[in-house]
Amino acid sequence: MLLADRIALVTGAGTGIGRAVAIACAREGATLLLLGRRKKYLEETYDRILEQGGRASIVPLNLEKELHRVPEVAQEIVQRFGRLHVLVNNAGLLGVMTPLAAYEPPLWESLFRVNVTAPFYLTQQLLPLLRAAPAASVINVTSSVGHAGRAYWGAYAASKAALVNLSETWAQELAGSTVRVNTVNPGGTATAMRAKAYPGEDPKTLPTPEDIVPVFLYLASDHSREINGQHLAARDWRDWQP
Ligand SMILES: NC(=O)c1ccc[n+]([C@@H]2O[C@H](COP(=O)([O-])OP(=O)(O)OC[C@H]3O[C@@H](n4cnc5c(N)ncnc54)[C@H](OP(=O)(O)O)[C@@H]3O)[C@@H](O)[C@H]2O)c1
Repeated sequence: MLLADRIALVTGAGTGIGRAVAIACAREGATLLLLGRRKKYLEETYDRILEQGGRASIVPLNLEKELHRVPEVAQEIVQRFGRLHVLVNNAGLLGVMTPLAAYEPPLWESLFRVNVTAPFYLTQQLLPLLRAAPAASVINVTSSVGHAGRAYWGAYAASKAALVNLSETWAQELAGSTVRVNTVNPGGTATAMRAKAYPGEDPKTLPTPEDIVPVFLYLASDHSREINGQHLAARDWRDWQP
């Protein structure tokens, strides 16, 4: 098992890519902390993990409105486990597809809070726990529009670009330590968010969230111990096996 005895926290673990990553990590032996907004969906992921003989807890938290509760979450992990090996900052908001000229500032701020501030603050507050593990991996989930702006993608594109930059800054500051920080660009994947962005698209033409988990397992495991500050495209890693 790739992640035996590891503790992993995945945000947005109730649906889509986060759910698939959490289930795959649990199958590889990790104990999962499932963080997300809607409890019902977190419980479904939890049930799937337990049915497969895995271990998990749910952490219902709204990353837009309840960031002040993150130190509480960190404290609970200190008490229960004393360390954290993997943090996947996967939760994200798409917002609306509209020209910047019409973008509503409150929505802009919501997207930056969930897509950028939450990954920053979770990493900052969980850093002592990540440092307490022999080796730790932070995986930030970005997007193609975070690497090159695109008309009508507004706050989503700008916030993912900020997340790319933030990841590079963390990686440089943590270079030489036991904590590494990298990003994954999932590429088009059949989820609710993708369907909202491309309503006319047939989801059967896209990889499923399960298809793209290998890159996450690679980055979470010791196989990537030397990898820091890199941007990996999930589609290049679909056939990866340990
Ligand atoms: N699918 C793609 O083609 C694609 C491509 C590039 C990048 N991505 C990125 O992949 C990541 C996962 O997206 P997905 O495609 O799997 O879509 P998704 O199913 O819509 O997942 C988004 C997740 O983010 C969580 N989330 C949103 N706002 C939150 C908040 N305020 N507090 C806590 N959790 C919150 C949602 O939780 P609730 O359901 O509980 O609200 C949901 O589980 C995102 O970062 C997205 O930008 C996806």
